[in-house]
Amino acid sequence: MAIERTLTIIKPDAAAAGHIGEIIAALEQAGFRILAMKKVHLTRAQAEGFYHVHRGKFFFDSLVKFMTEGPVVPMALEREDAIATLRKLMGDTNPEKAPEGSIRQRFGSSIERNAIHGSDAPETAAFELGFFFAKMEL
Ligand code: RTP
Ligand code: MG
Repeated sequence: MAIERTLTIIKPDAAAAGHIGEIIAALEQAGFRILAMKKVHLTRAQAEGFYHVHRGKFFFDSLVKFMTEGPVVPMALEREDAIATLRKLMGDTNPEKAPEGSIRQRFGSSIERNAIHGSDAPETAAFELGFFFAKMEL
């Protein structure tokens, strides 16, 4: 497997609860290199744009409201097989189904308020990295 890049976001629930440091530590312990990182409070239009693939789904409005309730911490990450490795480290979308020790099991509280985002494919990773970071930042 080749070195790959992915985009993660520490979501507003985990950021507000003071779990930014623990989540960064879990990512570093799993071998991810942080290429770039920022803390931003998304506007409604930005959250809608980021999650555009979910427009029209029953949870879209609620998701956008959640993602704009407070600051988030997007990060560009790099390691071998980064996309699949991050998704495994995050655990299932529903924290109740996420494996013991996974980030969502540790810090998520519902299927919506699940602490962390991770790109799900190379094409989405490319879009999402470009959404938050300019080429010269990576
Ligand atoms: P993410 O994109 O944030 O990494 O999460 P994911 O791939 O595991 O899940 P996805 O299906 O892409 O959903 C995006 C986010 O929308 C919220 N959600 N709420 N109420 C619901 O049934 C529901 N389903 C999804 C979650 O915040 C989920 O992470
Ligand atoms: Mg997703």
